[in-house]
Amino acid sequence: MTAAREERGGSPMVEAMSDRVMIFDTTLRDGEQAPGFSMNVVEKLEMARQLARLNVDVIEAGFPISSDEDFQAVREVAKTVGQLEHPPGICGLSRVALGDIDRCWEAVKYAKRPRIHTFVATSDIHLKYKLRKSRAEVLKAAVEAVRHARGYCDDVEFSPEDASRSDFDYMCEVLEAAIDAGARTINIPDTVGYAMPQEWGERIARIRERVRNSHKAIVSVHCHNDLGQAVANSLVAIQNGARQVECTINGIGERAGNASLEEIVMALQTRKDVFGVVTGVRSEEIYRTSKLLSHITGVHVQPNKAIVGENAFAHEAGIHQDGVLKEKLTYEIMRPQDIGRSSNKLVLGKHSGRHAFKIRLKDLGFELDGPELDKAFKRFKDLADKKKEVYDEDLLAIVKDEMTQVPETWVLDYLHFVSGTGLIPSATVRLRREDQPFQDSGTGDGPVEAVYSAIDAIAGIKGRLLDYNLRAVTQGRDAMGEVSVKVDFDGTVVVGKGSSTDVIEASARAYVNAINRLVRPAPAPQVKEIGP
Ligand code: KIV
Ligand code: ZN
Repeated sequence: MTAAREERGGSPMVEAMSDRVMIFDTTLRDGEQAPGFSMNVVEKLEMARQLARLNVDVIEAGFPISSDEDFQAVREVAKTVGQLEHPPGICGLSRVALGDIDRCWEAVKYAKRPRIHTFVATSDIHLKYKLRKSRAEVLKAAVEAVRHARGYCDDVEFSPEDASRSDFDYMCEVLEAAIDAGARTINIPDTVGYAMPQEWGERIARIRERVRNSHKAIVSVHCHNDLGQAVANSLVAIQNGARQVECTINGIGERAGNASLEEIVMALQTRKDVFGVVTGVRSEEIYRTSKLLSHITGVHVQPNKAIVGENAFAHEAGIHQDGVLKEKLTYEIMRPQDIGRSSNKLVLGKHSGRHAFKIRLKDLGFELDGPELDKAFKRFKDLADKKKEVYDEDLLAIVKDEMTQVPETWVLDYLHFVSGTGLIPSATVRLRREDQPFQDSGTGDGPVEAVYSAIDAIAGIKGRLLDYNLRAVTQGRDAMGEVSVKVDFDGTVVVGKGSSTDVIEASARAYVNAINRLVRPAPAPQVKEIGP
């Protein structure tokens, strides 16, 4: 066994009996397919790099047959992240149709550790209404699919979809046949988030007893959160012998989401006395990963979200503050540093130089050089002029803006707006395209609409705003505002992001960013990051 394989979980046969739990991240597949979370190829690549830094064992990067863009994303992740020195496994999802598996292999084959994950439903409800197939037909298709996938690679995972509502004996028969056909991982999904912890734990234990050859595969679980039990169900499955859990950053995913990676990992770490297992995850990377996902998707977690929410480590009640000041252990079961959360440290000011800026970014995990560094430094200087105190969070907002930036076909050059009680809000905007200035004006119900009308007039486009979110990056009246917009341009929906201390300017930047994404959707990444 190589060092890399030891580090990331080793061979499935050995792992089936060990105290190492494999973390299978499906943020880029189950997470991404949920409404509002879609990512383009560049964004998926950025996330995949960060997941590798987090040291997850497997990245499920997409469902290659579902679209050309998904195929491309899986292939690019396999070619880049899958080729790192100690890479995670790169997995693609496929149904049991043989053509799906061929397409999946075409995408994952570039990885050093490719995995094919094939699934078919085994519950009678799905068989009758969705697949219109008999139990015998589904069993046969599952076996053929696993065999076909094994023709391509050793690492094949099989999932009986809707396992929590499947007939137990039949599902065990399918699992046994899938392992005989060569599946190395059998993943038990609670597809509809129906299971309750005690029965789910018992079900996993019974599967391990009943399926004659279960010791030849890793037992995995994949829990959805419809009844709020996804993390509890994943943890109880581990207590009953599961040695892989499928989960997502911030718990994103279909409907109410998937089990949240950060909650599972920190529960296992904080309560090692209860679970007695370890993961390979570098927990200090959790916060940054969560923030990057929010930045890319424009969807922020609720303040009280366990582990990564804004208030997760904030002690507000007087009695709690008093206790924590005397001794942190009174109310703090984890330290913010354990998940890589800085204490909003004041880092740089308007007199800080380019070198200090570069070094601080490096400490935060981003290596910028040349024109990218110049651009980010200029934005930092502008910010430091407007804002007395510049925090890590501000720097992260700037650099993440640059990382997910598309080539700027249109650049915001000038913005003037008038608004107030009793006035019709109006705006004048100047954009540059290939260094040529274009100016126009607009009015609206509010200053944002006025600015967007002016931009529409310049770009000769009409966007319908589907969603608009504004949040302060840090505390304080002079905080930077981060705006994310979702815009429908004649049937094509695009997300755009922008930040500034002026919220109307941030709104304009986000809208221009959306137009640039529409015009130039998937460029090569601009910013080099430090590898894991
Ligand atoms: O929820 C589910 O059943 C799935 C399968 C494809 C594993 O996502
Ligand atoms: Zn799922």
